[in-house]
Parts: sequence; structure tokens; C-alpha cells
Amino acid sequence: MKGYVKVASRGDVPGDKGLPVKIGKREAALFRVDGKYYAIKDVCPHLGAALHRGFILGGRTLACPDHGWTFDLESGACTNRPGCSVPCYDVQLVGEEIYVSERYRRSGAPSCSPPSVGEGTT
Ligand code: FES
Repeated sequence: MKGYVKVASRGDVPGDKGLPVKIGKREAALFRVDGKYYAIKDVCPHLGAALHRGFILGGRTLACPDHGWTFDLESGACTNRPGCSVPCYDVQLVGEEIYVSERYRRSGAPSCSPPSVGEGTT
């Protein structure tokens, strides 16, 4: 499948936790929510926590494990810090195998920069 990389099998992805995977040299976090798979960059845009360690709060909402910023797994948009986002990948299933796009999916929301010194971290 051109433009995609096999990253896991369906049985590898726990239902309530993320799975860290590699897409070339990039790290991604793979999630399964209500039978659908999502892949996002495994780096929180706040201070860099590994998002595969995050928590599904319900629906497609992922909470960062370190300070609780929340992200929509479909769009990557940060839902409690408007204007921030995390890049997402397209996911394709072929039988039991999970493939993720080699490139990020384009998102309307810009990624954000870490806060400057003196700015709050929560
Ligand atoms: S590192 Fe993710 S919210 Fe702070």
C-alpha cells in the first residue's frame, strides 16, 4: 500500500491505552476507540509528553498524561487550548493489519509552541 507503513495488528492495540509505533523515524501513538483506529504524533505540543501514555476520557478525547491537555483523536485539535493541535496520520485497515500514512494528514488547526518562560504550564 503506497504511502502507508504497517505498524501493528489489530490485536496489538489495547482498548483503553495507546500503543507506541514507529513510522520511519517518527514516533506515533495508535489508539482504538469504539472499534476505530487513530494515529497521532506521540509528542504533546505542550511540553513533549508521550501521548501514548495518555487517557481516553470518552469518545475520541485523549488527555495528555502529564498536564491534562486534551486532544480530539480525529482532528488532532486541542480541545482545551484553542488554536493548538497535534499532527494526525491516516489509518487504513487491511484484514487484521493496521497501516498508517507516512505523512501527516493536513489539519486546519495550527500546532502550537511550548509556552514561554513565566507562562503557566497547565
Ligand atoms: S506535556 Fe502534555 S499537557 Fe503538558
